[in-house]
Amino acid sequence: MQKRDLTPYTGVEFTGVTIDDLRRPEVFDDLVDSLHRRDLVVVRGVDLTPEQQIELAARIGNPVPFVLKDWRHPEFDEILVSSNERKNDKPLGISRVGNFWHQDSSFNERPPEYTMLHGVNVPQDCGHTLFASACDVYDRLPDEWRTKLEGRIGLHTLSKQQRIGPEHVGLSIAEMRTLVTRQYPPVEHPVIRRDGFTGRNYVYAAREYMDSVAGFDPNDNAAFFDLVDTLVQDPAHVYTHRWTPRDLLVWKTATTYHVATELPPGVSRTVHRVSIAAA
Ligand SMILES: [Fe+2]
Repeated sequence: MQKRDLTPYTGVEFTGVTIDDLRRPEVFDDLVDSLHRRDLVVVRGVDLTPEQQIELAARIGNPVPFVLKDWRHPEFDEILVSSNERKNDKPLGISRVGNFWHQDSSFNERPPEYTMLHGVNVPQDCGHTLFASACDVYDRLPDEWRTKLEGRIGLHTLSKQQRIGPEHVGLSIAEMRTLVTRQYPPVEHPVIRRDGFTGRNYVYAAREYMDSVAGFDPNDNAAFFDLVDTLVQDPAHVYTHRWTPRDLLVWKTATTYHVATELPPGVSRTVHRVSIAAA
């Protein structure tokens, strides 16, 4: 087994690890410790059945079934199938999720603490996933913005972005909005939060999942979202995950920004996702 830091800012990569290794307490504890310290863990090329992925997730916390029942794995509620593939002329899963920088499920009052992805069928020269550390974003905030943001509340919402559109779930836009608003009324989170494991401050705010910072005027809001975009997307601070078959990724949803990149036409891709609430 080999282990290395992926960037100075986030991520630990494990290679040469099997499910049997992951079942050993010392390897599993090392993985969880790396996740807590470095926000993102990559295990390269590990063969996992859906049962084994859920088993692993259940040792980290409590797997949470995906809200839209249509896109759950046919046999396993805990697994969301993210796919652009078709089987028997039907979509295998939900396509085009997360194609914008975000922190997972921040529109929830209490987002599950971790996300786990397993690369079931992944292209290697496209469809990368990009990551940035929200702690590192805080560290790079100009002093005047730290002052301006102190004690501020962010208003998070899912209804602002429509990328999971009616074509994906068979609903009209009005029905989708009603569903989204009923299931996800806008929620409040402090803009600056502190990570319970590392004690580091981090920025909890992403343009696509937020209306505004409470009390900011439109100019302040626009400037704030522009600043967050600039800091998050700085190429020198972004980790680009170039998938290899059967990669397993786990990240902390609050302290990790990420985005899925677009796929060229004709390229198929399927990953299995499990949301995990802290035990
Ligand atoms: Fe995501």
